[in-house]
Amino acid sequence: MSKDKTLNVCSDCGGTSPKWLGKCPQCNAWNTLIESVASGAGGAGTSKHRYSAAQFIGLAMAQEVTPLSAIEATDVARTPSGIDELDRVLGGGIVEGSVVLIGGDPGIGKSTLLLQALDALQHSGLPTLYVTGEESGAQVALRAHRLGLLGSQVNVLAEIELEKILATVESTQPAVAVIDSIQTVYSDQLTSAPGSVAQVRECAAHLTRMAKRSGVAIVLVGHVTKEGALAGPRVLEHMVDTVLYFEGDTHSQFRLVRAIKNRFGAVNEIGVFAMTEKGLKGVTNPSAIFLSQHSEPVPGSCVLVTLEGTRPLLVEIQALVDGGGPNPRRLSVGLDRDRLAMLLAVLNRHAGVACADQDVFVNAVGGVRINEPAADLAVMLAITSSLRGRALPKGFFAFGEVGLAGEVRPAPGGQDRLKEAAKLGFTVAVVPKANAPKKPIAGLTIHAVERIEQAMDAVRSLE
Ligand code: TYD
Ligand code: MG
Repeated sequence: MSKDKTLNVCSDCGGTSPKWLGKCPQCNAWNTLIESVASGAGGAGTSKHRYSAAQFIGLAMAQEVTPLSAIEATDVARTPSGIDELDRVLGGGIVEGSVVLIGGDPGIGKSTLLLQALDALQHSGLPTLYVTGEESGAQVALRAHRLGLLGSQVNVLAEIELEKILATVESTQPAVAVIDSIQTVYSDQLTSAPGSVAQVRECAAHLTRMAKRSGVAIVLVGHVTKEGALAGPRVLEHMVDTVLYFEGDTHSQFRLVRAIKNRFGAVNEIGVFAMTEKGLKGVTNPSAIFLSQHSEPVPGSCVLVTLEGTRPLLVEIQALVDGGGPNPRRLSVGLDRDRLAMLLAVLNRHAGVACADQDVFVNAVGGVRINEPAADLAVMLAITSSLRGRALPKGFFAFGEVGLAGEVRPAPGGQDRLKEAAKLGFTVAVVPKANAPKKPIAGLTIHAVERIEQAMDAVRSLE
């Protein structure tokens, strides 16, 4: 583990001093010492590993101060990866000199997607490099074979030592380099083990700096912990330009790639893929893939229209209210558990639906993670439906946020959600009053509500 201590680093010569001084003790330049954090493994860092704050984020040193209006707003150079759904989450393509971190569970398809993307880039004439630290070159070749990438010209380097990786990137100058994965890379300047916080941070910082300096776009593959966060320090997420997460149930065919941070595009945009025999294929019209196929409506199921980035998605929310005892369980998959507890309290207080002594399980079908509060109404209706053992009508859906006072608040993009559901043949909905359309939508009966009690009444009137 590294011990962080502050150091004053000279921006001219890189010399250091534990105390702040007006003059650099090494090169005698004035006012060049900048306080920064030096992280070395147990103090084993050499001067190579001490960096100032500015170097750390890859900016050139000693820039003049310039009024904002005098700086030219140049657009970034983007290269489409050739995989539409990936470009959508990236904001149009891979940006020169940018660093993308892509995380996800093991086996979800990170290596597959990136190999496909590199091959597509290589085909469009850009040199690429795939650095593999987890698999041998032969294993990568086997995957390429499976993907049907015959005669692929993607350069492969099986290496985990940072210094050698940096040297290869410098000498081969690819347009895009993938490091699969950052947890396997280690720097021999540090004594801690690969995958440790110090190693991950140090290696990522070096790769980031190189990307900024050389213009090579770098994609780092990151592992996620059991809790779902990227392993290694959070600083990794701060350091890079774009953070993408792979979501989805490894047992189902569909995978989502979500941008949770993007300095060059919109966040929360998603790309949807299907894992096939020949790798990941983009799903261009994904709105109905997270619905399970019940021939007749079943109790405890409610369809939610959620808005992911710019695309509405219909997702089935399932709830099971059962048994229980003195310590009932509340479990949720794909939805926030604290929010579930809150919704149960609101149901109890404002709609007279009591589940205090019951186990409550909720699940978003297909392994999607739903973060938006607009899911509240559908979750509450699914719970009530399970508790009462009565199915919601065929063709029913809902969306809307529910507040602690029992009020139903509007969801952004209401019209888009309604139109998409109508397009897919849904016929009846309970939605927030403010989202009710001004002109009726053909084939759609809308119950506009302002409070959770009204939503319950509307559902009962449909039975
Ligand atoms: P992989 O890309 O190795 O996952 P990660 O790098 O995120 O750990 O994905 C491996 C899984 O994908 C594996 O379970 C097999 C499956 N797969 C297919 O179904 N079709 C394919 O064409 C490929 C290459 C993999
Ligand atoms: Mg992999």
